[in-house]
Amino acid sequence: MNVTDALKARFTCRAFTSEPVDGEMILTIMEAALKAPSWGNTQPWEIFVANGKSADRLREAYYDRFSHGVPANPDIARPLPTDWPPALKERYEKLRDDRSEFLGLNRSDESDMHSLMARNFSFFDAPCVVFLCMDRSLTPWSLFDLGSLSQSIMLAACEYGLGTAAAVQLASYPDLLRQELGIPDNLAVCIGIAMGRIDADSPHNAFRSPRRPVDEVVRIRG
Ligand SMILES: Cc1cc2nc3c(=O)[nH]c(=O)nc-3n(C[C@H](O)[C@H](O)[C@H](O)COP(=O)(O)O)c2cc1C
Repeated sequence: MNVTDALKARFTCRAFTSEPVDGEMILTIMEAALKAPSWGNTQPWEIFVANGKSADRLREAYYDRFSHGVPANPDIARPLPTDWPPALKERYEKLRDDRSEFLGLNRSDESDMHSLMARNFSFFDAPCVVFLCMDRSLTPWSLFDLGSLSQSIMLAACEYGLGTAAAVQLASYPDLLRQELGIPDNLAVCIGIAMGRIDADSPHNAFRSPRRPVDEVVRIRG
């Protein structure tokens, strides 16, 4: 698989099969992804992986909290952004409307929306979740580095036939992650990436998000 194929194949996988992900494969994917660039080669990332039974324990604890209405308490970007420039807001709302309609869900129906959100808190049934962390003192530049790393992980995973979902909701309860994965207090849990075999029969994986046309986004002079 070449890079362009991987870029085109990647999508946010929101339903996984229960097939386990081999630990060696995880390390191979991470080793390739760690070639990601970073500010002054600081490599600010620390990676904690919940695999197999560890992912299952966390899934149970996350789902229990979510179903009892325990508010998310993420380490970073609290509260989550609500105000967006108009064009971004329009794309955000369109995505939510289009995805709900595609799945036959009603956006004004609370229980429909609750069940959609609940999928985040069962990690979309992924057998493996990768958590990216960095020291709490770092700036948005290091978060930029973690973004590069995220995409590198997701593209490398494509090569091994694995689906991924980078999701901020997976970092909702860092205290549970610290307990299960031994994440030290000085590290902020920034994002979770669910990883595993794609459930090709799930309608959640049939939806594809659109992109702005390249000639609208890119201005080339000369
Ligand atoms: C930083 C970040 C946070 C995200 N958080 C979530 C999330 O919490 N739940 C979710 O279902 N998707 C989440 N997504 C996935 C985006 O909704 C998705 O990338 C976007 O709609 C484009 O679709 P695609 O990834 O399928 O191409 C997140 C993506 C990024 C980059």
